[in-house]
Amino acid sequence: MIKPDAVENGYIGAILDKITAAGFRIVAMKYTQLSTRDAEIFYAIHKERPFFGELVEFMTRGPIVAAILEKDNAVDDFRALIGATNPEEAAEGTIRKLYAASIGENAVHGSDSDENAAIEGAFHFSGREIY
Ligand code: RTP
Ligand code: MG
Repeated sequence: MIKPDAVENGYIGAILDKITAAGFRIVAMKYTQLSTRDAEIFYAIHKERPFFGELVEFMTRGPIVAAILEKDNAVDDFRALIGATNPEEAAEGTIRKLYAASIGENAVHGSDSDENAAIEGAFHFSGREIY
C-alpha cells in the first residue's frame, strides 16, 4: 500500500516509478480508502501494541493505493526497496528515506512474508482484479 501520508503529499507517481524501475510487475492496483474495520483487520497483528489506535486513525484518514506486486524474491526485495520502518533509520535512496516523515507515517506498507502477501492481496482484491 501507498499510505495516506504519501498520497496527501503527492508521491503516488514517484513511488510507483521506483517500484516499477526496481523490476516489480503490478498485477493488481486500486485507489481506495480503508474503513476503521478494514484497518483493524489488516493490522490485527498489532492490536495489542500501544500505537494501534494511532495506526488505525492514520491508515483511515484518506485514500491509499493498494497493489499486488510480482517479482522473484518479492517480499525481501520490496522491503529492501522501502527501507526500515523508521525513516530516520532507512537507507539512502529507499522509499521511506525519500518520502516518509516518521515511524508512524511511513509512506508505504510491504508484506512481511509470502503467506501474508497472499492474505493481504486477497483482502484488497477479488480474483478478477488480479492480472
Ligand atoms: P508495514 O507493516 O506497514 O509495512 O510496516 P513495517 O512492517 O515496517 O512495521 P510494523 O512493525 O509491521 O508496523 C506497522 C506500522 O505501524 C506503524 N508503527 N507506528 N508509533 C510507532 O512506534 C509505530 N511503530 C509502528 C507504522 O506505520 C508501521 O509501518
Ligand atoms: Mg509490518
